[in-house]
Amino acid sequence: MTGFFKSVREDIAAVFESDPAARSYFEVLFCYPGLHAVWAHHLSRWLWLHGMRFLARFTSQLARFCTGIEIHPGAEIGRRLFIDHGMGVVIGETSIVGDDVTLYQGVTLGGTGKEKGKRHPTLGNNIAVGTGAKLLGNIAIGDNCRIGANSVVLRNVPPNSTVVGVPGHIVLHEGKRVVITDPKDIRDPLSDVIIKLAGEMHELREKFQQHSHEALGAEPDLSIDEEKEKAAPKIVPEELFIEDYQI
Ligand SMILES: CC(C)(COP(=O)(O)OP(=O)(O)OC[C@H]1O[C@@H](n2cnc3c(N)ncnc32)[C@H](O)[C@@H]1OP(=O)(O)O)[C@@H](O)C(=O)NCCC(=O)NCCS
Repeated sequence: MTGFFKSVREDIAAVFESDPAARSYFEVLFCYPGLHAVWAHHLSRWLWLHGMRFLARFTSQLARFCTGIEIHPGAEIGRRLFIDHGMGVVIGETSIVGDDVTLYQGVTLGGTGKEKGKRHPTLGNNIAVGTGAKLLGNIAIGDNCRIGANSVVLRNVPPNSTVVGVPGHIVLHEGKRVVITDPKDIRDPLSDVIIKLAGEMHELREKFQQHSHEALGAEPDLSIDEEKEKAAPKIVPEELFIEDYQI
């Protein structure tokens, strides 16, 4: 019980550290559903570990009803977890969350639906996960990482990284900007299409240059005329893909 009150004091102190909007002890105690959800999780986790699985799930669902935050009793939560605003946060059964982690509203630590056993993410210490971000599968997020709002992270992230985008890719690592030069590094399903189109464009350009050279005996001017570009008919991207992808 002493441990519980110690962790309550720690959680409240963590809110004051992370949230400039926090004004008084009572405000934090009564107006932060993220804290209520974490405290309810201490109870549901205790019930879960003592074999009272139904009661544990029921407590967790009751907390979800009151706070809009669903933490499965099976999830291992570290110290000073701060769920800011809270609504819509889901933490799956086999998730592991380290110390000093901040989750904003709408974050999901979920499964991909393809794995069994350990199927939810493992977060290290001192991590911030932006609003609406989805971390899916049995992936590991290293210490001191930041996950951008609305990112979808499907792969392991090394410590000290910032990840953004769908699918998530690293934009900052150890304080340095990560420049992506190959579209494959983003691992977007559309990357292959873009690479293919770029290849075909290059091939066509070369063929055109060769034909013009043969026909006119001179190097054609392939520089882009902005006026002509504006007057050119608009290309509907879907039409480009109809043949290859049967859209
Ligand atoms: C990811 C984040 C932490 C990055 O912050 P940062 O380290 O200051 O990095 P920057 O703002 O310099 O962004 C780096 C690059 O990522 C891009 N980026 C940042 N956040 C992004 C996001 N959520 N989605 C897509 N791209 C993003 C930026 O445009 C920038 O790209 P550029 O250099 O090509 O212009 C921040 O943008 C973020 O999303 N924070 C979440 C905060 C939140 O959820 N608040 C909710 C409060 S209720």
